[in-house]
Amino acid sequence: MAIILINGNEITAKEGVSLLWTALDTGFYIPNLCAIRNAKHQAASCRLCYVEIEGEKSPVLACVQPVRDGMSVQLDTPAVARLRNTAFELLMSHHKLECQICPNHGQCTLHKIASHIKAKLEPQRFRKIPRDMPVDDSHPRIRFDPNKCVLCGKCVYVCQKSGAGVLDFSYRSIDTRISTFAGMPLGETNCNSCLACVTVCPVGSLTLKS
Ligand code: SF4
Ligand code: SF4
Ligand code: FES
Repeated sequence: MAIILINGNEITAKEGVSLLWTALDTGFYIPNLCAIRNAKHQAASCRLCYVEIEGEKSPVLACVQPVRDGMSVQLDTPAVARLRNTAFELLMSHHKLECQICPNHGQCTLHKIASHIKAKLEPQRFRKIPRDMPVDDSHPRIRFDPNKCVLCGKCVYVCQKSGAGVLDFSYRSIDTRISTFAGMPLGETNCNSCLACVTVCPVGSLTLKS
């Protein structure tokens, strides 16, 4: 057992578990997109979960930071805000924003994060990179809009773990995207319609058809 401080509040936590889940489970929100509870490896790719720990030279990512007895954590310092908000703006610079017609409108994690960190959804400092890839409407129950994908990897994880294993990352760098084997339309794959990917997608990329 460990006693830690989060924003000055004393929390009893389990030594060695992820600081991100400890904070979330005790009512302290830390923005996050790519963290997967109980996964053996965390991608730590969204760079949104920065926190500052007393004694550390620079902010660390809470999703890969184990709890240590006596640690004192600050969730919203200027250094945290600088790194986290830059990561968010970069992410939004290649996100197709069309909230009014998005199936995820009203329950979008990007809105929650923007509101929490007091950022705009439209990036202010970075040039917007247009995204206009075709929407995959081939599946009878699932719609996949790659233009809204934030590459969190959650759909790949659940599809490999409990679905038919048809989703994966493809291409690299700025061209990275979620795809099926050889880019087949989702409706032509072995997808078993478990819908786990729709459940975990934090944005309006993988959604249920109405
Ligand atoms: S995923 Fe969220 S931010 Fe993006 S268009 Fe949909 S509602 Fe808007
Ligand atoms: S489709 Fe959704 S769950 Fe999959 S990587 Fe993109 S944002 Fe994440
Ligand atoms: S949740 Fe930590 S880097 Fe994405």
